[in-house]
Amino acid sequence: MNECQKIIVGLGDRSYPILFGNGILGRLAEELSKTGFPKQIAIITNETVEDLYAADVLAAVENYADKIALIVIPDGEKYKTLSTLETVFSNLIEQGFDRTCGLIALGGGVVGDLAGFAAASYLRGVPFVQIPTTLLAQVDSSVGGKTAVNHALGKNLIGAFYQPRLVLIDVSMLRTLPARELKAGLAEVVKYGVIRNRGFFSWLENNVTNLLGLDEESLIHAVMTSCQIKANIVENDEKEASLRAILNYGHTFGHAVEQLSGYGSIKHGEAVSIGMLVAAKLSRHEDLCQAADVERIAGLLNSIGLPTDIPRFAPDEYLEAMARDKKVHHGTLRFVLNRGIGDCLIKDIESPGTIFSALLQSPDTKGRAMAEKSSSPLGKIAAYTEILAKDPHSTVFVSLSEAYRQLGMLDDALDVALKGTANLPGFCPGYSALGRVLTQQGELSKATEAFATALELDPEHAQALKGLAKVRLRQGSPEQARELLLRALSINPDDSTVRKQLASLGGDHSSGVNKTGDAGTDAEDLHQGADDVVDSGTDEEPPESSPIPTETIADLYRKQGLLKEAAAIYRDILRLDPQRETVRNKLIEIKTLLDPDRSVPTIRLQGTSITDKAVALAVSPAVERQPEGSASESKVVSADPVSTLEKWLVSIEKGRIHVQ
Ligand SMILES: NC(=O)c1ccc[n+]([C@@H]2O[C@H](COP(=O)([O-])OP(=O)(O)OC[C@H]3O[C@@H](n4cnc5c(N)ncnc54)[C@H](O)[C@@H]3O)[C@@H](O)[C@H]2O)c1
Repeated sequence: MNECQKIIVGLGDRSYPILFGNGILGRLAEELSKTGFPKQIAIITNETVEDLYAADVLAAVENYADKIALIVIPDGEKYKTLSTLETVFSNLIEQGFDRTCGLIALGGGVVGDLAGFAAASYLRGVPFVQIPTTLLAQVDSSVGGKTAVNHALGKNLIGAFYQPRLVLIDVSMLRTLPARELKAGLAEVVKYGVIRNRGFFSWLENNVTNLLGLDEESLIHAVMTSCQIKANIVENDEKEASLRAILNYGHTFGHAVEQLSGYGSIKHGEAVSIGMLVAAKLSRHEDLCQAADVERIAGLLNSIGLPTDIPRFAPDEYLEAMARDKKVHHGTLRFVLNRGIGDCLIKDIESPGTIFSALLQSPDTKGRAMAEKSSSPLGKIAAYTEILAKDPHSTVFVSLSEAYRQLGMLDDALDVALKGTANLPGFCPGYSALGRVLTQQGELSKATEAFATALELDPEHAQALKGLAKVRLRQGSPEQARELLLRALSINPDDSTVRKQLASLGGDHSSGVNKTGDAGTDAEDLHQGADDVVDSGTDEEPPESSPIPTETIADLYRKQGLLKEAAAIYRDILRLDPQRETVRNKLIEIKTLLDPDRSVPTIRLQGTSITDKAVALAVSPAVERQPEGSASESKVVSADPVSTLEKWLVSIEKGRIHVQ
């Protein structure tokens, strides 16, 4: 069995272990048993995580549990509501889960918060376990016992402090996490270094590439150190009377960024990254740290690929947003500030308006505005160069390289892109910029490498997909170019350049695209179009030698009855793009056909309504199906028929099954 490490969150009779390791799910039953966890278990997860890990968790507990059910909620923050919670309760009640049951939260922070609150309130409280599957959940939300759902009037307004019995953190689960989620989680990891542990901060500076490359030892070290820091804080102030508030470092301004940008357009961790740099600049202004500390914090965040540029809203708008967030009282702003790196304090800032006006007009912001105003490419180059001279970690190197490239100064463009990517190894637009220069220089295999790195960092980086499509076309692989462009189009359906390029390549793709055009002009169009792009973007890409796992091929396998082969491809597609609803449904269908006897009662909550797709099957391979109405000792735990095939619900006790 794989090794695991442990820390204890010491809260008296509510103390609990956090286990860390790579591939340690197999230990779950043994660890549940150590905590005396109930044997009636309901696993709460969401539809994305279900496809990836529910089978492993079920297998890990099947010999331990007497009764088990899987409750699948829809994916997304918008489902972290009372309505979803009520549906979860309904299903627990219908399935006969009584006070001797326990819940397992399997998922990111949304699932963990909701399932934790379900556990806190179901039958006045039942035990629960956290199996966090995002980095943010592993280093933050699964530890400390804050559980909640959102209300229409605000986030996390309804909840409870309720500690889990066990947190099991398996870093191998991060392999399927989209790169952007991984980086967002790293923002919280950086936070722990800044507020509590200078040595850890330095370690992070030296290990960014390992962390982004999902090196397991580095991940375990980062996650464990973060949890240890959070545990120490929670042990001293479980209910946030004072000390725990330091965990809000970067969050005061970060929440304002989220509010003003619109929830969803920016990830929480990205907003916290911006907020941390503002907090660092404010700390410098208050003479609590050196300019060099601020530079180091900016450097680390940027090298991870996290944003630090402040979105352009007026200082007043930021102040109003922070006031709405109850951070401004009688004109005074309460902020967590860093003292150097590795220590922090909470300070009330007087006259925040003046300070924020100055902060939001940083030289970088001014320089970028100047560059954008300048109509001449040389003017832009001068402005960008000046910014880079002041801040070698600025992401502006992408624009500078692009400006050189567009002027045909390819050596300069390459030099800037190489230096920039070396300074900021986690910043994926940098690799796209590098790829474009290399493509223009005819260095196609090096360009492929650069685009592949960009896509590893951010699988939804549309510009990298477009850049790579151009390379593939030059290499004489129009089919691969087409696949890549289709992926770029699925990320941004309004991208008319991609539509045009696809039209010129011909073949079947999404609506509204002209399918005419011959191969000769296709190539020209695509080359032209790809040269036009600047940068943004985000999705993943396969290595040159392995073709993209396509849904069409999997569909063919499925039709021919090659179900395992089809399932393998569907799973690969979901790993690359967990949001593909149609693929997920096909996989569920195959899984049911392939191995019905290993399934368990599964309640899928659609939107916020009740169980309209309840398909419940048996737990044990040795299960024995009882025809309707037959006598048995097993108890029927649920009967809530919904629609034809999906109407029948099954109740089980281990080794027995009733179909209703
Ligand atoms: N309780 C706390 O102390 C605390 C602290 C911080 C944040 N939070 C809460 O956490 C929530 C955000 O959590 P989050 O960032 O984990 O978001 P999330 O739970 O929405 O997960 C992000 C996305 O990743 C997917 N996902 C999860 N695990 C995956 C995996 N291993 N592979 C592929 N995809 C995977 C999810 O389905 C989702 O689409 C917010 O609701 C926030 O309020 C709570």
